[in-house]
Amino acid sequence: MALIPAAGTGCSGSSTSPPRAESPKPVNSEVEWDGFDPGAYVEHNYSLLRADDHEILCRIRDFFAGAKISHVRCVDVGSGANLYPALALLPFARSVELCEWSAANVGWLRGQIDRYDECWDAYWQVCAEHPAYAALADPRGHLARVGRVVQLSVFDLPRHAWGAGTMFFVACSISADRAESEHAIGRFLGALRPGSPFAAAFMLGSNGYRVGQRWFPAVELQRAEVVASVAAGAYDVDMYEVRPTPSLRDGYLGMLLVTGRSRG
Ligand SMILES: C[S@@+](CC[C@H](N)C(=O)[O-])C[C@H]1O[C@@H](n2cnc3c(N)ncnc32)[C@H](O)[C@@H]1O
Repeated sequence: MALIPAAGTGCSGSSTSPPRAESPKPVNSEVEWDGFDPGAYVEHNYSLLRADDHEILCRIRDFFAGAKISHVRCVDVGSGANLYPALALLPFARSVELCEWSAANVGWLRGQIDRYDECWDAYWQVCAEHPAYAALADPRGHLARVGRVVQLSVFDLPRHAWGAGTMFFVACSISADRAESEHAIGRFLGALRPGSPFAAAFMLGSNGYRVGQRWFPAVELQRAEVVASVAAGAYDVDMYEVRPTPSLRDGYLGMLLVTGRSRG
């Protein structure tokens, strides 16, 4: 995914500026998440499968396929307007709960769960290059059967509820407060039962992003900070850094994919 950088740092030429709110570094509760525009977000980030998402998707596909899980309760946290983490969980899922805080994104997700748009077929095709996924003949119908969208904050996730999980571009991109980012990682890992496989993705060095006409905050995370936060709640951790495509990646350093097992 390619979060559009904040104005002045990117190639979009937008005149949208960071919010002139009382708080220049908003915490999660100060942001108007219901103003998130899922259509604009998909259009910019996912309407075409980009090389970096392709690489990440291949890696999480192979990771979950090798994780020796079957028929587990799965969660994707902060799903927003991205279905590929949920698709990567699908063959192994008794259920997939898509937990999202923004009402606009919850509405979008409910529509997509019923019957997802054709642009996601390209993502499934990548998954289906692996036999564990190819065995699932009707991913669209399967997601409609096992998927459930829940309006739930990452900060309110129950403990030890799920057997596999994903959280993509959330801890880095829901606040400008470093402590909240760390807290979100801890809540995500704590929501998984001990030993559960997970995949999480982070923007590194992001200073915010625009979706449609709105600007949203981010934390300028460094790789070492992510490593430390994840290591506190996980083992068998693997990291893979995706280098940005220059023309679209101004405003942040890159993306980090982390896989592992939760300590619980
Ligand atoms: C940068 S988007 C990432 C969306 C998607 N996971 C992706 O991979 O593109 C951040 C998402 O976190 C959601 N979000 C914001 N605050 C949240 C919270 N407290 N709990 C859960 N999700 C939240 C936003 O609504 C948005 O969908």
